[in-house]
Amino acid sequence: MKKLKLVSVLLIALLMAILAVGCSSNNASSSSEGGEKGSKGGKVNVGIVLPTKDEPRWVQDETRFKDALVDSEYSTEILFSQGSSAKEKENVETLISKGIDVLIIAPHDGAAAGAAVESAKKDDITVIAYDRLITDTDAVDYYVTFDSVAVGEAQGQYLIDHAGDGKGIPLYLYAGAASDNNAFLFFEGAWNKLQPKIADGTFVIANSSEAESLKDKAELSRDELGKILGQVTTNWDPNEAKNKAQTNLTAANTDLKGDVAILAPNDGTSRAIADVFGTDPDVSSYVVTGQDAEMASIQYIIDGKQSMTVFKDVRTLVTDAMGMAVDILDGETPETTGTYDNGSKEVSAKQTDVIVVEQENVKSELIDSGYYEASEFSGL
Ligand code: GAL
Repeated sequence: MKKLKLVSVLLIALLMAILAVGCSSNNASSSSEGGEKGSKGGKVNVGIVLPTKDEPRWVQDETRFKDALVDSEYSTEILFSQGSSAKEKENVETLISKGIDVLIIAPHDGAAAGAAVESAKKDDITVIAYDRLITDTDAVDYYVTFDSVAVGEAQGQYLIDHAGDGKGIPLYLYAGAASDNNAFLFFEGAWNKLQPKIADGTFVIANSSEAESLKDKAELSRDELGKILGQVTTNWDPNEAKNKAQTNLTAANTDLKGDVAILAPNDGTSRAIADVFGTDPDVSSYVVTGQDAEMASIQYIIDGKQSMTVFKDVRTLVTDAMGMAVDILDGETPETTGTYDNGSKEVSAKQTDVIVVEQENVKSELIDSGYYEASEFSGL
């Protein structure tokens, strides 16, 4: 009897141990991939897939999603694709296996993500493209985004308003990754503003023969935009941006230095490019754009090393995306404000405006709005 008792006690202990290990591995795997798991009993209602944890922009979104989900009755999980479409597909499959009803996804590569969302569609999962559009597939139901053309227009207009008077101002062009549909929209917006000023000689293009050959063309086709991006892309990688800037400045003669204007597509690449131009003895001053209001760039703006950034209040995008998800889970039709042609269909969309931030309005736009704490910056 005693022996039996001992055996059953040991068995129970063993069982407990197995159970304990099960729970933590779940937590460990999802947290190591940056997962926030609020699932109740394993089912996940809303799956969220973000491009990479290696860029501050998407860590901002993760933080804001976590804030937004605290009191949610629905379970969610956030996974990162680490710059890989294969990992992205794997993430979507993982979430499908957890029974999601809604997938919110910012694709690493807008076209390559088609396969992943098509497998979600097969399971009647509602797909919401987040910030970046998924192209050339019917398997996208909704799109929440910022006005990406307005981002580029704000950057272009800023260079026109701040790059000084006179003619022949050297203009260095840089862009995002061609795999990202937004990179085309950003550049299209910048071109809308800059092209007339290039055509009238105010700006001289310093680093792109493709753009130079198209300088008299106000509206560029997707192919023409693609040709320019092919020459000036940073692939959203600060190191690649730095190398490209160094190569451009090494190739440039002094006519293309002095007081210059730089179109940098986002904050990470902007800081890398500014550091290169800032240390070239023949560059007397530069005006450089940015995007995303990353903390490090806000400090650069306060310190006068970056001229501006385009603030995209991620809290709004997260609220819109989760609002849509909850509507769908509640059997309602989400509110949208327009559509985007993704090359296969008109996708119903909700679009948010953007705000230009420079030294003068850092406090009013980012501190007073509670986006950041003043204590996170020096010299404010
Ligand atoms: C874009 C996004 C930007 C930017 C970039 C790099 O699609 O809209 O905010 O940061 O990707 O990840």
